[in-house]
Amino acid sequence: MKKRARIHGSYRTEVTITRNERELHIAVTVTSNPLPATGREQFLVVLDDLTELIRAEKFAAWQEVARRLAHEIKNPLTPIQLSAERLKKRFEKIPESRRGMREVREFGEILSESTRIIVQESEMLKSLVQEFSRFARLPVSKPSDVQLHDLIERTLQLYDGGLAAVRVCRNFDPRIGNVRLDPEQMQRVFVNLIDNSLDALADCNSEKVLTIGTRLNESRRTITVEIADNGTGIEASDHERLFLPYFSTKKKGTGLGLAIVRQIVSEHNGFIRAEPNTPQGTKMILELPVVE
Ligand SMILES: Nc1ncnc2c1ncn2[C@@H]1O[C@H](COP(=O)(O)OP(=O)(O)OP(=O)(O)O)[C@@H](O)[C@H]1O
Ligand SMILES: [Mg+2]
Repeated sequence: MKKRARIHGSYRTEVTITRNERELHIAVTVTSNPLPATGREQFLVVLDDLTELIRAEKFAAWQEVARRLAHEIKNPLTPIQLSAERLKKRFEKIPESRRGMREVREFGEILSESTRIIVQESEMLKSLVQEFSRFARLPVSKPSDVQLHDLIERTLQLYDGGLAAVRVCRNFDPRIGNVRLDPEQMQRVFVNLIDNSLDALADCNSEKVLTIGTRLNESRRTITVEIADNGTGIEASDHERLFLPYFSTKKKGTGLGLAIVRQIVSEHNGFIRAEPNTPQGTKMILELPVVE
């Protein structure tokens, strides 16, 4: 790069390096600056971390794919379902007395079983598509003044008996009162994070602990919410991909949970990141601005 900078005055390229098992995308610009009289030269090297930018671009691309796919799948589903039901109804109109032939009876059985599967699987596709379009929906958040700790309590109540085997610790900062946020969306954030923690705790042999903490950072004018568990933890090499759509290490996971979380949090002008919890597990750290 120095050689090229010498020829062109300045040279720019993008490199990807791996540090602590994490990929960093960096734009490097090298500018050469000949020192008069000495015959020697100086180089100015500027490193720009593009990791976040590239991540945002990937995310936007995925969103576009999801939006289109949802649209394309949804349209034919209803006619497929209706046609199957129509076939079945029409067959059932044939009087019993005229279904005497063995082949017709067998056909009737196959027809009824097949239409049942078509209708059932179309239903399944419909809900999948709904999940897709929720992920791809345009940001329409409806912020209101919400008592943050009440919202967290209400979210925990949704689990009913689901948290019976888990010790839930609350470290709430009493200085936090009303926060301006979209309660429905933020509840989805908490549900997704708690779900993930519960999954991570499923095979935990020691006491299962879920810690929810809040903190007001007066100088930064932000609120931090931490959801920590002592579950399986996250492989260092997975950190990079956690928030990408469809990244999942679970058999039945869609991998959309954290992608949706990230989207909602950024609509609230906040940040979210994952850190290892000590001595064991995962800590998800959410930072939200305090809006006056
Ligand atoms: N608290 C956690 N502990 C350990 N691993 C986690 C935790 N939270 C997230 N992960 C890892 O991040 C991956 C992505 O999470 P995400 O919520 O996006 O999808 P998922 O949970 O796999 O699927 P879904 O949310 O659709 O059920 C998980 O598969 C898991 O490997
Ligand atoms: Mg999840």
